[in-house]
Amino acid sequence: MGEAEWERLLGKLDLRQKVRLLSGATVWHTPDEPAVGLRALAMSDGPVGVRGDSWDDRRVSLVLPSPSAMAATWDEDLVERLGGVLAEEARAKGVDVLLAPTLNLHRTPLGGRHFECYSEDPLLVGRTGAALVRGVQSQGVAATAKHFAANESETDRLTVDVRVDERTLRELYLAPFEDAVEAGVALLMTGYHTLNGTTMTEHPLLAEVVKGDWGFEGVVVSDWGAVRTTVAAALAAQDLAMPGPDTPWGEELVRAVESALVTPEAIDEKVRRLLRLAARLGALDGLDFVPDLTGAAPGVREPAVTAAGTTGVPLAAGLPPAPAGTAAAAPGNGEVRNGGTPRQGAAPGGVATAGVLLRRAVAAGSVLLANDGTLPLRPATLDSLAVIGTHARDVRVQGGGSAEVFTLPVISPLEALQRALAPTTRVGYAPGPATGALPAPVDGRLARDPRGGAPGVLLRMLDEAGEELYAEHRPTGRQLEPRLVPGADTVEISAVLRPGTPGRWTFGVAGYGRLSLQVDGHLVMDEIQPRETDDPAVVHVRPPQRCATVTLPAGRDVLVVARRRLVPDAGRATVLTAAPPAPPDDRALADAVAAAAAADAAVVFVGTTEESESEGRDRTTLRLPGRQDELVRAVAAVQPRTVAVLNCGGPVELPWREEVAAVLLAWFPGQEAGPGITDVLLGAAEPGGRLPTTWGALADAPVTATTGPAGTLPYTEGLHVGYRAWLRARAEPAYWFGHGLGYTEWDHRTARVVRRAGEGAGHEVHVELRNTGTRRGRELVQVYLSRADGQVERPVRWLAGYAHVEAEPDATVTAVVPLPLRALRHWSTAERGWRVAAGRYRVLVGRSAGDLPLCTELVVDEEIALPSNGRGR
Ligand code: BGC
Repeated sequence: MGEAEWERLLGKLDLRQKVRLLSGATVWHTPDEPAVGLRALAMSDGPVGVRGDSWDDRRVSLVLPSPSAMAATWDEDLVERLGGVLAEEARAKGVDVLLAPTLNLHRTPLGGRHFECYSEDPLLVGRTGAALVRGVQSQGVAATAKHFAANESETDRLTVDVRVDERTLRELYLAPFEDAVEAGVALLMTGYHTLNGTTMTEHPLLAEVVKGDWGFEGVVVSDWGAVRTTVAAALAAQDLAMPGPDTPWGEELVRAVESALVTPEAIDEKVRRLLRLAARLGALDGLDFVPDLTGAAPGVREPAVTAAGTTGVPLAAGLPPAPAGTAAAAPGNGEVRNGGTPRQGAAPGGVATAGVLLRRAVAAGSVLLANDGTLPLRPATLDSLAVIGTHARDVRVQGGGSAEVFTLPVISPLEALQRALAPTTRVGYAPGPATGALPAPVDGRLARDPRGGAPGVLLRMLDEAGEELYAEHRPTGRQLEPRLVPGADTVEISAVLRPGTPGRWTFGVAGYGRLSLQVDGHLVMDEIQPRETDDPAVVHVRPPQRCATVTLPAGRDVLVVARRRLVPDAGRATVLTAAPPAPPDDRALADAVAAAAAADAAVVFVGTTEESESEGRDRTTLRLPGRQDELVRAVAAVQPRTVAVLNCGGPVELPWREEVAAVLLAWFPGQEAGPGITDVLLGAAEPGGRLPTTWGALADAPVTATTGPAGTLPYTEGLHVGYRAWLRARAEPAYWFGHGLGYTEWDHRTARVVRRAGEGAGHEVHVELRNTGTRRGRELVQVYLSRADGQVERPVRWLAGYAHVEAEPDATVTAVVPLPLRALRHWSTAERGWRVAAGRYRVLVGRSAGDLPLCTELVVDEEIALPSNGRGR
């Protein structure tokens, strides 16, 4: 793609046209520019599903397991295929740019977006993220590595000044982004925060490291609202300010160029990058050349040194034809039935095939933390099974915040177990005490539209006099981006409910401004919710809700009407929620215990709630909300075959973990939650997950801080994060990084380091292991390095490589774990470069950072300098 071509296109645009391209045209689109044949690019979150270019409850999406679960698979092929599922849905919804993957680390277990990030280890984050990038981009959809960089917690996330030393930054927090760039990622998103005194959208790292050392040729897009200055951000290597149309750039940037505060060349460089991205996405007509589909990834310069085994798949310069049967050809065709309401999205051709993959992914990511042999359950030995806990019925499939999507109907674990075990095993259910979750948005299962009675709600826009300006049927009470017509004064959501359970119902309205609620003709709430934050994840996605309780009889229709007066700066979100009456907690607990005692085994589902794990805030405790710990303990006390299933995105404390027969971590499993978990519980699939992050009690965790002095957050632990910190503190976590059991046993026998042929080609570790159990299984072999005698500070040990093996019972297999030189590297601050120190490295092999039965060593004869892009062989 000749440089002359970009110059020709740039020559067709005047300064104002160019600058216009650098801000979003809408919240989710870039501008078009007919003068160069450029169409708008549509962007969408996110890591677990593709919402599309609006928050619209009629557009449902496939939901993948949360990123923490994806990383727990340690399986790049699977993650790449999951990336392909995202890309297919993106294309079906006309989305060009996917705002994923999230490459920040699990630095503290309290991080609010823990579920949306992969791991505490930079190698696992980098490899998982690169796999997702390849999967997404192989189908002509652009991926976005976010949030650059060192953005590990949510407290004061718009302003916090994160302080990290240069070496830690390079080795831990930049490394996954470097991997993404190497995999050809098309965009990189700068975070809201400040790093070492400079806000990310103005940071010199963008020019010096990202575009300099790494040779990134893609587009640097801001997080939503993160560009705050005209000149400083434009002078930095920030290319695109989102969302639009109002950003600090626009006319002010035109003036800044006219007054020579920003050079025209700086603007040209940003536009060139945007045009190049558009060309790669097939969004630029009238080019004088045919886009090259076969060459090296256009987003990355050819590396000086190529990493061994790297398989970066370039983003195609043009979109392949839409797969037959997807909604891409005919938007709106992707209708599925949900409570009788037609809804768009989720390419129907893909749902069934993707469903199989997503179901497999649940098992592949589920981590069996403990098991005395009770799992897998053997239906032949069970006349009855007690399923317990609200999460068994109302499973959380995804975490909260910008990553959220509207889902297809989900089969709950309770329903899936009932289906799988009928007719041989009786499955009883007891929810146990309430978890403290706030009422959920109403939907077609509970509510009907007062006009016409279709499942769902009626959404109306009213003028100041209360006259209707427009009305439409919607499937849920969660209205985040309703159409605001001129003269609109009030958003109204109404629904008819016929309570099946009499008693005290709780209703809520979420949003900012004046909120009111009428139930059965009575005004039960009329309050003002002042706006207390600028965080978009709160204002536009999860605004606070105000609730009222009303005692209702059963079997009679009740009209519920929520209203929110529209005032400037109060956002667009309005949500109507409801929760049925629940029995008193003590009785619910007693019922659960009785059900468990009477059954042959019990499976207790416990987990976090929207309030305890979501974007926009950090957690303050790792305790399970409500009385769930008490529930598990009480059940385990009466039922020796008690299995606990954890439904959460990040670590929770398990004070009862030694009192139950088995603990299965199912994460936020995505839409195949029920069937996927059931596969594991009943042994149709082996739990393949291994912890991507160390789990332990908050009081023992060495790194927990999410705030620091005077608006800063110093990463004082340096390189020692996660298992590295636990090792350094000589503390024993509940479960080490890498831990996870399968359904068979393995004996790790020998480990041997083999030098690869060719100078600088690195090494391989050959590990022989034997399946000593009774069924075929799959095992993850982990290799760590340590350096006792070096001059350079290193972690106690660090993950250097991993590989899977599979074997039948009694079979012996050899895992080959590549150890590129890069696995040995450290950043030398003095020399401002990557070095591999000479000397002896201990090579530790085993099942987790805390269970490494084999040890050998590797010798580097003399110090090696790696290229500044770090791509050591
Ligand atoms: C989040 C991003 C997200 C963006 C758009 C921001 O608040 O931090 O991850 O992509 O919103 O939804």
